Amino acid sequence: MSTTDFLRTKYMATGLASNDLSPDPYYQFQNWYQEVLASDLPEPTAMSLATVDENGQPWQRMVLLKVYDVNGFVFFTNYTSRKAQHITKNPNISLLFPWQALGRQVKITGTATKISTAESVRYFTTRPRGSQLGAWASPQSQVITNRALLDTLLEQAMNKFHQGNIPLPDFWGGYRVTPATFEFWQARENRLHDRFLYTKDPEGMWTFSRLGP
Ligand SMILES: Cc1cc2nc3c(=O)[nH]c(=O)nc-3n(C[C@H](O)[C@H](O)[C@H](O)COP(=O)(O)O)c2cc1C
Repeated sequence: MSTTDFLRTKYMATGLASNDLSPDPYYQFQNWYQEVLASDLPEPTAMSLATVDENGQPWQRMVLLKVYDVNGFVFFTNYTSRKAQHITKNPNISLLFPWQALGRQVKITGTATKISTAESVRYFTTRPRGSQLGAWASPQSQVITNRALLDTLLEQAMNKFHQGNIPLPDFWGGYRVTPATFEFWQARENRLHDRFLYTKDPEGMWTFSRLGP
């Protein structure tokens, strides 16, 4: 039995009760995230990011969670991409962590804001040189004529930065998601899953309620 199968069976049998939950959803997320990272789930940091365009049309794509702490969820991307254009006009976003192999998912709603350039630089400098060059070379979300254009753009970036450190592109960096709600979903027998939704009360304190599956 794989680790994920073992964990899914264990979590399904144990379930999720209000007594198990941390009063603080950030800690609850941390607990589940540690378990995911310790499992053999492929791409454990991948999350689906939904943004909304100016017609109210939602779009989704996967991004990688790179920083998680009490300030929120940080991912990195191209600031001219489709998602970035959406966030500029409408910062309301939703995240989904698709941990179904473990019988779990976490759904988050909130807002995304750009992180500081200093914070993006700190992350960018930890990236392998190839990823740094790729960030410079990719016209993310733009129509391109063919694959050969990407090779040309990469070559241009390699020539431009053939020596020394590669700087952070001014069109690239992170967004931090500040959650407004968290939902923790645990698969159970007979489709009677456990769901808990955290919201903030009028005093700004987190509170959670059980939802019907
Ligand atoms: C597992 C996975 C992880 C990804 N991680 C990122 C990421 O961290 N940042 C990013 O910009 N794109 C990432 N992508 C690509 C995006 O899903 C998407 O294609 C790209 O960001 C362009 O999206 P947009 O045109 O909606 O802005 C990832 C794709 C997959 C499948």
